[in-house]
Amino acid sequence: MPKLLLEVSHVGHVYQTPECEKEALRDVSFQIREGEFVSLVGPSGCGKSTLLTIIAGLERPTFGEVRIDGKRITAPTTEIGYMPQKDHLFSWRNIHSNITLGLEIQKKGPKYYRKAEEMMEKYGLRDVGHMMPDQLSGGMRQRCSLIRTLVTDPGFLLLDEAFSALDYQTRVAVSVDIHTIIRNEHKTVLLVTHDISESLMLSDRVIVLTRGPGTVKAIHELSALKDIPPMERLEHEAFGSMIKDIWGELDIHG
Ligand SMILES: Nc1ncnc2c1ncn2[C@@H]1O[C@H](COP(=O)(O)OP(=O)(O)OP(=O)(O)O)[C@@H](O)[C@H]1O
Ligand SMILES: [Mg+2]
Repeated sequence: MPKLLLEVSHVGHVYQTPECEKEALRDVSFQIREGEFVSLVGPSGCGKSTLLTIIAGLERPTFGEVRIDGKRITAPTTEIGYMPQKDHLFSWRNIHSNITLGLEIQKKGPKYYRKAEEMMEKYGLRDVGHMMPDQLSGGMRQRCSLIRTLVTDPGFLLLDEAFSALDYQTRVAVSVDIHTIIRNEHKTVLLVTHDISESLMLSDRVIVLTRGPGTVKAIHELSALKDIPPMERLEHEAFGSMIKDIWGELDIHG
């Protein structure tokens, strides 16, 4: 069995603002093994992005702890590639230099820059490399942000709504493509998504959080869909009932 990569143990988080305290997460525990693709779904405001910033080492949890490879996370590490919900491209750098920003910071060699060029070509960004972020559509910006996360070659990816700004066709194509890359390169992924069918198409496991403060409501092991490519999963006889089950657990109107 692959080794344990991520251990989230009894994580709780309370934001302190001058006006009030806001409990965003309560007693969240789960584990991810190396090579797994796990999706996190939950109602808006239930603490998904908060959990990702904690795992990325950008925020210290109020309660509990996070370990990667057995080491407690207290600050960002190069093993983790984090794509935030907002793209955070720098408006004064062109697309090419936004994509290679992580390579500059980590002082990576020419091999990585060549890979960045290849990925820009593959994802249709070569011709916009010289443009500034605000000249691009939301979907293009999101794609840049995703590629920027991938080019430094981290083993563990945290993707917050990675595909949400893309139109439906591009979204399916990009998500299937990313899925292939991730599988080929044996990466481990925790993907936050609002799209239940996306989570079922791409994942080995789906974690459902309750409305805020988020706690783990259910964990679905997608054994029935194992080894089935994303697009073919849509045709699987159990797909519809899985969507219905998770939809029910999300309790959107409750
Ligand atoms: N910096 C902050 N200060 C105070 N409260 C915050 C802060 N960031 C988030 N919150 C609150 O914490 C809760 C969880 O927010 P979070 O962004 O983690 O939710 P989410 O599940 O990612 O939502 P969405 O699906 O809409 O992206 C929300 O009630 C939010 O208003
Ligand atoms: Mg969020």
